[in-house]
Amino acid sequence: IIKDVKARTVLDSRGNPTVQVRVVTEGLGVGVANAPSGASTGRHEAVELRDGGRDFKGKGVSRAVENVNKLIAPALVGLSSRRQYEVDSKLIEIDGTPNKARLGGNAIVATSLAVAKAASSTMGVPFYYYLGGRAADTLPVPLLNIINGGVHAGNKLDFQEFMIVPAGFSSFHDALKAAVEVYHELKTIIKNKYGPTAVNVGDEGGYAPPLEKVRDALDLLVEAIKGAGYEPGGQIAIAIDAASSQFYREDKGAYIVEGREMTRDDMLLLYEKLVEDYPVVSIEDPLHEEDFEGFAEMRRRLGGRILIVGDDLFTTNPARLSKGIETGAGNAVLVKVNQVGTLSETIDVVKMAHENGYRAIISHRSGETEDTSIADIVVGLSTGLIKTGAPARGERTAKYNRLLEIAEELEKPRYPGFKVFPRKP
Ligand code: PGA
Ligand code: ZN
Repeated sequence: IIKDVKARTVLDSRGNPTVQVRVVTEGLGVGVANAPSGASTGRHEAVELRDGGRDFKGKGVSRAVENVNKLIAPALVGLSSRRQYEVDSKLIEIDGTPNKARLGGNAIVATSLAVAKAASSTMGVPFYYYLGGRAADTLPVPLLNIINGGVHAGNKLDFQEFMIVPAGFSSFHDALKAAVEVYHELKTIIKNKYGPTAVNVGDEGGYAPPLEKVRDALDLLVEAIKGAGYEPGGQIAIAIDAASSQFYREDKGAYIVEGREMTRDDMLLLYEKLVEDYPVVSIEDPLHEEDFEGFAEMRRRLGGRILIVGDDLFTTNPARLSKGIETGAGNAVLVKVNQVGTLSETIDVVKMAHENGYRAIISHRSGETEDTSIADIVVGLSTGLIKTGAPARGERTAKYNRLLEIAEELEKPRYPGFKVFPRKP
């Protein structure tokens, strides 16, 4: 039974305020969760409530904090912390808007997660076990973003994320070790080519060298994989998040890539060539956030070879994923709890994805905190795939370190490797 719900303002990895919620139960369980925050947010995401005005340059969250303390807390006290659907329905009901604009998606997501963690704490079981029980035995294949571009970095790369995917290993531990070695090899390569200032890191811990061309970034990844002694494709593959809504110009109906105007078909041809030339296993947001038809066409052309992931397209929203499934748009969904706002809706999206042959990649945001909920969620929901940045910056390593801990706790941890992709590149 929920005894106390309390929110406060804390800081995220970009130095912006965010909401932390602490839930205490009668059974002396405690759950704490922080709201993360995106930069390349999708149009259909739950709304982050910010104060405006002068404090924190308008980014204060005191209204969201107050909403938790004054509106949410009285409604939740006395409910069972184990009734997640009831708790989340209550949050949705009090909010009363389709996009969580009144209470704030940030207030709601921190509360929803804190309740679930308080329930697991009350029961005395790890959070992943609370979510998945004995079936929670699968560690995720990580997609590590080690070159940052787009709105996450100060360089001129149009695509936002260039990731390495250590799928060709038999354990999470070995996979992470290889990824870390590639990360350090990449640092040396970039330093030699572009000088010492080029190894400063972007929002997600990846390097942000002064590159302009997509292929230059991909070449660097391949060079680093080889340089670290691994086989590109066989052991370590590549994933891309184009985050293309950021360089799609609605007025022109075109994408601007490396200074050139590109149609949807130009983009599809570009992706086909990249998949030919590099060991790519996944491309996220290849087309803009309203182009279900384009995502369906891409699936027809490349769906047998790679994951085609909708992030801004689906925004972890059951209605949008359902539309995607009907139209055959993509074959995977990026899952961010704060895009939809509650844990229950997130679980629904993952279930819907799995029932319809879609993969679900549990994901951090570019603005994060030391909260490690997503590490437990990915194991608890057995999706086998996680995106949580480079193996650097505390808010990113917190998740990897939690996964290492979970891997040790599990009796027989499984690592799915290339099985979570349509095929080995
Ligand atoms: P965001 O980026 O958190 O800034 O939205 C992450 C992503 O696009 O996957
Ligand atoms: Zn994305």
